[in-house]
Parts: sequence; C-alpha cells; structure tokens
Amino acid sequence: ASSSSSSVPSPPPPPVFLTQEELKQIAAYKAVEFVESGMVLGLGTGSTAKYAIERIGELLHQGKLKNIVGIPTSKQTHEQALSLGIPLSDLDSHSIVDLAIDGADEVDPYLNLVKGRGGSLLREKMIEGASRKFVVIVDESKMVPYIGGSHLAMPVEIVPFCWKFTAERLQRLFEDSGCVAKLRTYKDSDEPFVTDNANYIVELYFEKDIGDLNAASDSILRLPGVVEHGMFLNMASTVIVAGELGITVKNK
Ligand code: 5RP
Repeated sequence: ASSSSSSVPSPPPPPVFLTQEELKQIAAYKAVEFVESGMVLGLGTGSTAKYAIERIGELLHQGKLKNIVGIPTSKQTHEQALSLGIPLSDLDSHSIVDLAIDGADEVDPYLNLVKGRGGSLLREKMIEGASRKFVVIVDESKMVPYIGGSHLAMPVEIVPFCWKFTAERLQRLFEDSGCVAKLRTYKDSDEPFVTDNANYIVELYFEKDIGDLNAASDSILRLPGVVEHGMFLNMASTVIVAGELGITVKNK
C-alpha cells in the first residue's frame, strides 16, 4: 500500500476586530508622539483624551518627558492629571500653549468639529484656541459628512438666568433646519446639567444641514445669554483617526 500526504494550506487567521476603546487609545498614543520635553500642553477632556493624559503621565514617570506643564480643560481632567503627577498651570500664567490634544464628537471633511458633549466646551475652546498646534484624536465613528450630520446634539453653553427664553431663541434661529433645543440634564434625572463654569447646556438637534457654519456661529454668539457653542471651526491643525484599517493622520 502506498501512502500519500497532501498539505492543506492553513486558513488565514481570523480578522482581529478592535473595540472602540482600543481605537481611542491608539489615536491618543499616536498624538502623544507630538509631545516634546519642555512643552506647555492643553489637556483635553473625555474618554479619548483620558488615554493621552495617561500616556503623558507614564512618559513623565519614565523620565522620557521632562519639564511638561499641563493646562487642563475641565475639573475632571485637572483631577486625572493631578493624580498622575503632571505639573499643572493655567492660561493666566501661560497664555500660549504649544500643543493641545483632545477628542471630538464630530469631525467634518474640512476638520471642523463639534465638541462639548462632555460639557467642557468653553474651557476647551479657550485653551485649544490659544494653542500653536491642536491635535484631535477620534475613532472613525466620529467622522461625519457635515456638522450636525450624526443627528446627535450640538451643545451650546448658556447662563442659567431665563434659560428657557435663550433655548427658545436658539431653536428659532434654526427653525429652517428643523431645530429642536433641549436642556441637558443629568442621566435619569430632570436636574439641569451644570458645567464647570456654573452654566447650563442647551442641546440643538437638527433635521437638516445648517448650511454656512460661520454664519451659524455668529448668529448663536450674538444671542445674549449664550456663553459659547460647540462648533470648533478651523481650529484643528491635525486630526488622528483610528479605524479598523489603521491610523489616518489628516492635516489642515
Ligand atoms: C468634552 C468633549 C470631548 O472631547 C468629546 O465629547 C469627545 O469625548 P469622547 O472622547 O469621550 O468621545 O468635547 O467636552
């Protein structure tokens, strides 16, 4: 009897699907490659920025980064950075920030952003607006064809005084886009969400594209009672997008 052996090619390994948390961490670690010793850093807020701050703390402790100063964009980030031993400062002491790293809720093809679903848009805009370089870190789910295109809320920070009046005026501004304005509350509660600046947040939902973003920005900011909105127009220098097929770095 003769024996024969045939080699059957082994099947390719199954694809490895990364979780959204893993993608956020990949984008965050990539952004930290831009950090150099001696820099003044804007430290963002949210679940993606958290990974960047963790990494900065780690490099500081390993002695791979020295003389870093962090400027936190929220009380939450202040606490995290403090717990990691990152030296902290503010814009009063450092009016120019070398590099800011932060997440975003939406990124359009021109690298305009919606931010502030974590509620920290005012401090983020002040600090990121004072930065020489602003690197945005997102997973691919945040990429949208146009601002408002995810049908999630666009936040506007307003003063609590007569908030209903301000919310109604905001809704009326965008009635042609089918806008609905809602006060942000804490989860499972009717209590208004209060920002780090003791303000409220109105969330704008749009049925249709709001068109000219600069005109929309101007008209929101002209309303008395509005403090700031979550559109970050023409502010990002670089957007790092982590997706299943790898990392994409988009530069302005
Ligand atoms: C907070 C923000 C956050 O950067 C934004 O909400 C993205 O958060 P996450 O990384 O958790 O998705 O603007 O005000």
